[in-house]
Amino acid sequence: MSRRLPCAAALLLLHLAALGPAASAGSGRRYDSIFSFGDSFADTGNKPIAFARYSVPVTVMRPPYGETFFGRPTGRTTDGRVILDLVAQTLGLLLVPPSLAQNGSSFRQGANFAVAGATTLNAEFYHARGIAGKLPINTSLNVQLEWFEALEPSLCATSQECEEFFGRSLFFVGEFGVNDYHLSLKKLSVQQVRSLVPDVIETISMAIERLVVKHGATSLVVPGVIPSGCSPPILTLFAGRAGAADYDSRTGCLKEINELGKHHNSVLKDALRKLRVKHPHVRIIYADFFGSIMEMVESPRRFGFREDVLTVCCGGPGRYDYNDSVACGDPDATPCTDPSGSLYWDGVHLTEAGYRHVADGWVRSIRSSDRASGGEMCKASASTYGSPQ
Ligand SMILES: *[C@@H]1O[C@H](CO)[C@@H](O)[C@H](O)[C@H]1NC(C)=O
Ligand SMILES: *[C@@H]1O[C@H](CO)[C@@H](O)[C@H](O)[C@H]1NC(C)=O
Ligand SMILES: *[C@@H]1O[C@H](CO)[C@@H](O)[C@H](O)[C@H]1NC(C)=O
Repeated sequence: MSRRLPCAAALLLLHLAALGPAASAGSGRRYDSIFSFGDSFADTGNKPIAFARYSVPVTVMRPPYGETFFGRPTGRTTDGRVILDLVAQTLGLLLVPPSLAQNGSSFRQGANFAVAGATTLNAEFYHARGIAGKLPINTSLNVQLEWFEALEPSLCATSQECEEFFGRSLFFVGEFGVNDYHLSLKKLSVQQVRSLVPDVIETISMAIERLVVKHGATSLVVPGVIPSGCSPPILTLFAGRAGAADYDSRTGCLKEINELGKHHNSVLKDALRKLRVKHPHVRIIYADFFGSIMEMVESPRRFGFREDVLTVCCGGPGRYDYNDSVACGDPDATPCTDPSGSLYWDGVHLTEAGYRHVADGWVRSIRSSDRASGGEMCKASASTYGSPQ
């Protein structure tokens, strides 16, 4: 059973949208809301709330976090907006509120379940193996899905209403994987960490399937992981043990760690292909994170970044201006004066300037998928009505 609008109705809606205010921003609005799952790359303010529940202190609520866009710390781990904010604004939607911050009634236009530090696999997996300390807290992908399911009754009542509502929502599943791998790399060899990939991908696949089958999601964006081998905290972690041959001489990134990310992304893309075959009416959009960061690492000047692109804007003393014991937000941290000249903000996280380039790519992927499915829709209804144009 297809819930798609016939071509004529879809074109009429596009036409009406073109008359509305959204059109002036160049966006025929296709979505009414965004629901997002993920970690610090997507978190729009859950971190301080979630961490307080486990009495884990955070520095994100101190300056200079938020200085570039909001003018104050918002709980985002960057100087301004995260990718999700930039994508939402470009699509003509509101910024997606953190799900832990408010009551359910105000989430009809979207909710963001992402929490900084969230892993794909449950926290117990890491605690049972002695991989983690206080982190990760109980915010894994499955926990975020439970939060979503607890909120659902406040969004729609009957299953038909939910299907219609979520059919006009854009779901973001991830990025997931970076925290699983970065936590594990502190204790395990790269080969051992690589052996986690199948479980991580399986968990992401199951989450997508649950959103589609149980809740009626029809448009999902699934980002891949970053090139962790370029990430200042990982470069710092390996500084003592890596030899010259372990680095890509052109970029200064760690080759084997970047291979781990490429491997994750390739297994993820295979899993998404299988899901598309299984659910042909659902749009599952892969969002590239790895490639757009590599472009900025390889040609920093083109993006307005300084030449020593693998250093952080806001950190402490160290080869990459990053220091595990001096967090951004600490009194001893030394923030750069112009975050827009840096790719990396405080460690793994990018500056808003870095996120901007990634977001532009994701918006292109979403719009090209919107257009492709619009085309299919018209072909399908043309044959249904047998009306050649
Ligand atoms: C959330 O809802 C509960 C119950 O309706 C209410 O007691 C509480 O004050 C609300 N909290 C906020 C932040 O609005
Ligand atoms: C983690 O959170 C979920 C969802 O809120 C809850 O069902 C579960 O009991 C929690 N687990 C632990 C170990 O606290
Ligand atoms: C990190 O900062 C501490 C305290 O400021 C300092 O003692 C240490 O040398 C720094 N580490 C590196 C690698 O520079």
